[in-house]
Amino acid sequence: DDAGLIDRFGRRAHDLRISLTEKCSLRCTYCMPAEGLPAIAREDLLTPTEIARLVRIAVRDLGVRDIRFTGGEPLLRADLEQIIRLSREFADGASMSLTTNGIGLDKRIDGLLAAGLDRLNISLDTVDRDHFARLTRRDRLPAVLAGIEAAKRAGIAPLKINAVLMRDTLHGAVDLLEWALENGARLRFIEQMPLDADEAWARDNMVDAAELLDVLGTRFTLTQPHRDDPSAPAEEWFVDGGPATVGIIASVTRSFCAACDRTRITAEGTVRSCLFGDDETDLRALLRGGADDDELADRWRAAQWGKQAGHGMERADFVRPVRSMGAIGG
Ligand code: GTP
Ligand code: 5AD
Ligand code: SF4
Repeated sequence: DDAGLIDRFGRRAHDLRISLTEKCSLRCTYCMPAEGLPAIAREDLLTPTEIARLVRIAVRDLGVRDIRFTGGEPLLRADLEQIIRLSREFADGASMSLTTNGIGLDKRIDGLLAAGLDRLNISLDTVDRDHFARLTRRDRLPAVLAGIEAAKRAGIAPLKINAVLMRDTLHGAVDLLEWALENGARLRFIEQMPLDADEAWARDNMVDAAELLDVLGTRFTLTQPHRDDPSAPAEEWFVDGGPATVGIIASVTRSFCAACDRTRITAEGTVRSCLFGDDETDLRALLRGGADDDELADRWRAAQWGKQAGHGMERADFVRPVRSMGAIGG
């Protein structure tokens, strides 16, 4: 589909991530500052109708097949069910998923599924309550676990859990994997990227996939990495012979940029073709200025064409993006 979202390096975007808010119910140190991000004015956020229109263009005209809503914390939008319901009408054949911290999910899961949500990923870095409170600056592990339990009861399968690797969580990695195995959850560890608001990230202090494998190897036998989809960020390992697996997303030490199939829309309606690309293209002004679908599609294609080769973290002249993770959309 040559009318799709193609960049100068020949990559095609089939995966759209839409951030819905900068707000979050937690303050994970690798993502947000303690005080939270500067609030986006309500009128600056895309509305459910605007979001659904972009979804329609993405799926119908631009070849997008997977749509993921992120944040901040998407559950903090009271109109999330409406966003999903309106998008569903236009997302013919595309899957719709959510990345959430799970807080409040117990009360919303049925409505989200009824609105047309297909899948969801929940972020959880540790099952130790004190440690969770320090890391997220909020004592809310029980609320997250209630959300996970509700997702399980609602039949979400596989139940996917994301854990960002940190120096102080490393000793809890074995417990977290044990918890995941007991709960039938599919756990993926993620190398931390320099997207923390506090700019505390340092390559020398980052826990990488190799170090995690050593730690997990003290308790489990991990075998046979197999990679079905080259653009899938996670590398899966069988735990103790399988069928259970654990995944590692080595975004830093084994960058998957060359196979990247992503495009993103920020909560304020700009196209951000790469997590690390600060130059963004405003679609909101076009949407509100009466542009037709073709103009919007053209502008989006042009934005994607300019996508950078990759994050460039391996280079000496690497400059971190201005926005932190919470302000881009995880
Ligand atoms: P699945 O479709 O379920 O595999 O989800 P996903 O991995 O696409 O999405 P999820 O929101 O669960 O993201 C997992 C992790 O991948 C995030 O926590 C980020 O650390 C990382 N990640 C997400 N998007 C990008 C991206 O565009 N670039 C890079 N380098 N990393 C990303
Ligand atoms: N590096 C890697 N992953 C991150 N996330 C947030 N900040 C970072 C970071 N600096 C993850 C969250 C969540 C997903 C949306 O992004 O833990 O799983
Ligand atoms: Fe794609 Fe950019 Fe993420 Fe690399 S850093 S995987 S190019 S979005």
